[in-house]
Amino acid sequence: MAGFLIKTFGCQFNQLYSAMITDALIRGGHRSSESLGEASLVIINTCAVREKAEEKAFSFLGEAAMVVGASHIVFMGCTATLDRERAVRIAGRGLNVVEGTAAVEQVLAVVGTVVPVGELDCTPPRSLFPTADIELMRGCEGYCTYCIVPRSRGPEVIVDVGEVLHRAERAIGSSFSELLFLGQNINRYRSRLGGLVEIMSSVDELDGNFWFWFLSSHPANFTPEEVRRLMELRHIEHRLHLPLQSGSDRILERMNRRYTIADYARLAEPVRENADWTLTTDIIVGFPGETDDDFAHTVDAVRGFRFDGVFLAKYSDRPGTPSSRMQDKVPLALIDERHSALLRIVQDLSEQSNQVLAGKFVDVLVLAVPAGSDAFGKSIDGRNVWFSCSEPVPGIGTIVNVAIDHGSREGLHGTRVC
Ligand code: SAH
Ligand code: SF4
Ligand code: F3S
Repeated sequence: MAGFLIKTFGCQFNQLYSAMITDALIRGGHRSSESLGEASLVIINTCAVREKAEEKAFSFLGEAAMVVGASHIVFMGCTATLDRERAVRIAGRGLNVVEGTAAVEQVLAVVGTVVPVGELDCTPPRSLFPTADIELMRGCEGYCTYCIVPRSRGPEVIVDVGEVLHRAERAIGSSFSELLFLGQNINRYRSRLGGLVEIMSSVDELDGNFWFWFLSSHPANFTPEEVRRLMELRHIEHRLHLPLQSGSDRILERMNRRYTIADYARLAEPVRENADWTLTTDIIVGFPGETDDDFAHTVDAVRGFRFDGVFLAKYSDRPGTPSSRMQDKVPLALIDERHSALLRIVQDLSEQSNQVLAGKFVDVLVLAVPAGSDAFGKSIDGRNVWFSCSEPVPGIGTIVNVAIDHGSREGLHGTRVC
């Protein structure tokens, strides 16, 4: 039996792969460890979307190599695909590198050369319980000019509809309460049933008590009619994550996003008209050529759409992307300034959005019940909820009703209704 440590950077895809590997290692009789000193296997699952995440992974690699030695490390994920040489320079020649991010089986084959692993099965990883992450698609062919994902993950691969539905049924049958469907550009999903709406409708017809949602939508591949049809499903969570990236049409064009603010507004309208739904987004600040005027348009858009949550990123130059070759880079100090200004606005909007729910009752999926402090969960519209509850404490994965006392920037606070 070996102690293993998995360090995960980046998106939900990496979280899913790390969880599948964790489960296979535990089935193989190993135990998870938090400390490098106790680990005889270290897996580093990397993200290349921004320079900062890459630098953190390389620095952890250097640290791990000194403690456990290169031959006990598996370096995988997007950075491993893009920059094997640097990883080997840092850790040494014995490093196990898994290039390509397509198949978890490939990773397990490499891990298996370090320690014996258990079998993979198609039940969602237990370590993510009560959420079952299910891949609909891998890779991306969106070619946004700033983004490394099409290079690091490669072309789109669609998971067969039968396989997706089988995994969803297995998850529900194994008591998972939430299904999260994944694709980098999920609106491009196609199967014999049709597109995203059709497969989500089939999931909605499955028997059981569950919620589901999906990530990430791309405004260019979505229609308001599809948004409306999805919103009518019975089991769908009341939230849409729809990355906007910039509020300026000029910058959206330079980003190759293939929609305008007016197109985005048409998609957002059904969600904004329904007070039970939340709308969240991703914004990049400081894309090359972004003027004060472009930035002002982004501020206006963020205010205008009243986003309930925004993931704000500072533009990061990624080697080999078209935007890395653009000449008119925004100075870092200006990016910082714009980022801080927008962050304040985004935080105020989140606070206002949460405060509106004071005095209301919301359904909450229980995610953690720590002894001695409030329980934690997610509301059906995706907000963090901290709540007190008397005995019997609810189990993780149950859905409870919570009376909201007040909202804060971080989420909702209340008491479970017995
Ligand atoms: N496929 C998803 C997002 C994947 S990357 C989509 O299209 O929405 C997640 C987020 O990282 C992106 O939405 C974008 O906001 C951000 N991002 C990607 N590349 C970036 C870069 N070079 N610099 C800063 N942020 C970036
Ligand atoms: Fe990157 Fe664009 Fe693909 Fe999203 S759609 S992963 S931002 S290239
Ligand atoms: Fe990062 Fe690769 Fe995901 S670059 S965001 S881990 S697809």
